[in-house]
Parts: sequence; structure tokens; C-alpha cells
Amino acid sequence: MRRWVLKPGRSGTDALALEQAPIPEPGPGQVRIAMKAASLNYRDLIIANGGYGQSVAADTVAVSDGAGVIDALGEGVATWTVGDRVAGLYFGGWVDGPPKPGMGFGLGSPGEDGVLAEYVVLDADRVARIPRSLDFVQASTLPCAALTAWSALTAEHPVRAGHRVLVLGTGGVSTFALVLARSLGAEVIATTSRESKVSRLRDLGAAEVINYRSTQNWGEVTFSRTGGVNKVINAAGGDAMTQSIMAVGHGGEIAVMGLFSAGDAAPPLPVLMAKGASIRGTSVGSASAFASLVDFIDAKGLVPPVHRRFAFDDARQAYEAQAAPDLFGKIVIEVAP
Ligand SMILES: NC(=O)c1ccc[n+]([C@@H]2O[C@H](COP(=O)([O-])OP(=O)(O)OC[C@H]3O[C@@H](n4cnc5c(N)ncnc54)[C@H](OP(=O)(O)O)[C@@H]3O)[C@@H](O)[C@H]2O)c1
Repeated sequence: MRRWVLKPGRSGTDALALEQAPIPEPGPGQVRIAMKAASLNYRDLIIANGGYGQSVAADTVAVSDGAGVIDALGEGVATWTVGDRVAGLYFGGWVDGPPKPGMGFGLGSPGEDGVLAEYVVLDADRVARIPRSLDFVQASTLPCAALTAWSALTAEHPVRAGHRVLVLGTGGVSTFALVLARSLGAEVIATTSRESKVSRLRDLGAAEVINYRSTQNWGEVTFSRTGGVNKVINAAGGDAMTQSIMAVGHGGEIAVMGLFSAGDAAPPLPVLMAKGASIRGTSVGSASAFASLVDFIDAKGLVPPVHRRFAFDDARQAYEAQAAPDLFGKIVIEVAP
């Protein structure tokens, strides 16, 4: 079979190598998945560049997110059947509740093979059913970006009909947050740095779009237009925290997951205090959150925001597209179209 591996000591797309390898056999308690599609996240660029404080020490199959069909069962597996349509779960050992210690950086990171291969073996509890309503290209986008958006919207301070939600930028997490929040009945304000994306955000259901480059006080502007949002999806990072605090309403929540900037400036905590608002760290999500996301997508007939598709051989070009300024939603690599 063919697989894309990250090579130690290299960075960016130079780290990616297309190799032949034996088809893996599932051991006890494991399943083998014939992969159909994989999708990229910003974190795949971080990992290819040796981010998260460590580079791969050995050849590592790239990419966390993918979907396919179970084609072989290891001894003792009773929870799955050959032919089941599944995705790999980003983290292992996280059934529900808050994140668990020591979960690492997910599939396709130092010490853990990913899914950009024709066949992948995973523990039986590391896979989950995908929505019946989605094809494999669409379903491959769910494990990281969609689940992160879903956890941010629904845990702790769940978004309800009539709420207002602010989403930052037009990457995978934010476009999923827009689509999901609209389906939860919320009004969504979106930001982008590019005027060319405004109409696409409106097509996805954004009520208002603010350019965060030309309107640097976008949080204050959001507050003055809305009276404060119930939820901010901060998929940007620390540098966006001050304006996120300005945008959030009284009793609202800023769900933060963005890693584009660490942010050195002290955020205006007195404003946060005066609003009784909170900041919650979000780290992808649990297996039970993924199951509720899958049910929600099926119930609502949601369509993931797929931006571009690439052939398996063109994985390097797919990584370049993930880093390109025209990105709007998800980049998918078709493993077996
Ligand atoms: N903690 C977690 O569990 C978790 C999970 C998933 C993702 N993340 C992090 O969340 C972020 C988003 O991930 P992703 O995969 O959705 O990324 P992505 O698809 O690569 O998003 C790229 C888009 O983000 C927007 N952007 C970039 N810098 C921005 C800024 N300073 N302010 C506002 N928007 C900005 C841009 O939109 P415009 O072109 O419209 O400006 C850009 O097109 C990344 O930092 C990622 O590492 C964390």
C-alpha cells in the first residue's frame, strides 16, 4: 500500500515522503480501515514544521483526520463489522467529560501514526461512526475542525436559538462553527481579513461580516452593534483575546482554541470581570461529543465547508493550499475516490 510519512529532520512539505509499505494487520482489539479520504488542519502544518515543541523522531504517517471503511477486524472486536463507515478519533482514551492528562497531540503527530495511507490500523475504541448523510470526502473533515467547533459551541455554555456568536477568520474551525451555530438557531457575526470572502461568509449564513485587518477594534464594533455576543469562537489566539473580551456579552463565553499567536499583551480582565464573562480553553473533543456531532449533522442535513480536493499523489500541493491566503473551509485529499 502507499502512505505519506513525515521524515525526521525535515520541515514543511519537504518533510513529506510518499512510500510503499506492507498492508498492516489489525492486532487484538484493533480494526483496519481502508481509507477513502483525509483532510488537513492548520495543525498538520505545525507538525510538519516541528511545532508543538518536538519534531517527529521516526517516520510517522501524516495527518489526523480521515474517513473510510472497516475492512478487517482484530481478535475480540465485537463493536464493529466489516463494511462499517468510520473516522478515526483525534485523541485516544477520551470518552467524555473534560480533556484527560497525557493525550498527546493526536493522530499524525510525534509518536503516533496518522491516517494519510491507503490502510490504517487503529484501536477499536479510536474509531467512530460517520454521518449517514455525508460522503467520505465530507466526513473526513470532522475529527478535528468540526469537533473543535462543536465542543466550543455546545460544552459548558451551550449556544441556543436566539444567541449571537462571533467567529474569527475563515479556516476549518471557524467555517464549521458558522455552519453549526446557524443550525443551532444562532445569529452569527464573522470576521475575515479578505474582502473576497465576505460574500461566501454571507452565503453560509453570516448576518454581518467585519474585516479584522481594516477594523482593528472589531470586538468593540461587534459589541456596539449587538450588545455583546453570547459566544466568541476564538480560533485566532492570544492576539485576538483583547477584542474577544470587548465583543463578548454579559455572562457570555470566549471559547479559545486558536494557535496563530500566543499574544503577549495583557487582556483587559476588568472588562471580563464586569461582564461576568468567562474564557474556556477548547481542545478538539471527546468520543461522546463526536457522536453527538454526528447525530446533529444527520438530523440537520448539514454539509461541511469543503474548499478544495486533491488526489493522493498531490498531498504536498494540498499542504500548500492549506497555507494559502484564499483558504475557505477544508482541504481534502482523496485517498481512494
Ligand atoms: N486547541 C485545539 O484543540 C485546536 C483545534 C483545532 C484548531 N486549533 C487551532 O485553531 C486555529 C484554526 O485552525 P484551523 O485548522 O481552522 O486553521 P485554518 O483552516 O488554517 O485557518 C486559516 C484561516 O484562519 C484565519 N486567520 C489566520 N490568522 C488569523 C487571525 N490572526 N485572526 C483571525 N483569523 C485568522 C484566516 O482567515 P481569513 O483569511 O478569513 O482572515 C485563515 O484563512 C489554528 O491556530 C489551529 O492550530 C486548535
